Amino acid sequence: MASVLVAYATKYGSTRDAAEVVASTLTKCGIDAAARPAGEVRSLDGYSAVVLGTALYFFMWRGEAHRFLRRNRPALSTLPVALFGLGPIEDTPEQFEGARGHLAKGLSKHAWFSPVSTAVFGGRLDPEHLRFPDNNPAMRGMAAVDLLDLAAVRSWADGLIETFDLEPQPGS
Ligand SMILES: Cc1cc2nc3c(=O)[nH]c(=O)nc-3n(C[C@H](O)[C@H](O)[C@H](O)COP(=O)(O)O)c2cc1C
Repeated sequence: MASVLVAYATKYGSTRDAAEVVASTLTKCGIDAAARPAGEVRSLDGYSAVVLGTALYFFMWRGEAHRFLRRNRPALSTLPVALFGLGPIEDTPEQFEGARGHLAKGLSKHAWFSPVSTAVFGGRLDPEHLRFPDNNPAMRGMAAVDLLDLAAVRSWADGLIETFDLEPQPGS
């Protein structure tokens, strides 16, 4: 049975929520899928495909996402891998375009890595729960934002079955 790892790199949890929606969407379609923190994955044995999700901070990926790619390079070079970034907390085309640029900039650090699909989804911000050093007066003065469109995440995840060329389990 096809098995997909959805590895995520998060700071405040929204990228984990998106990763869990990717995994549950695949599971509902008859694919064995599980979301796990990227930093905890030690082996990719048994997986048919991988999804990697990273939050974007200060125009960069989370470090765990970069380390995940470096640590697992031999296995990832033989598997289809999809990549998503979570970021924009302002709903403007410029912010989303900027976030796509940040995702691409991180990607350029791994010349060997060519994801079969990439996506950027809107992010979430809860100023009351930011920790140091994010809880500066400018950030704390912002209104709470939720631009994470879970329907868009589900739709992208649905498309991955064909992109990954996976065979759903019969009867699902
Ligand atoms: C201090 C700070 C810096 C951020 N920098 C960026 C950025 O450069 N680009 C971007 O698209 N989003 C940026 N964001 C928005 C986050 O990516 C967004 O809140 C995301 O949902 C966080 O994911 P997480 O909850 O998985 O950590 C920033 C957020 C904070 C609090």
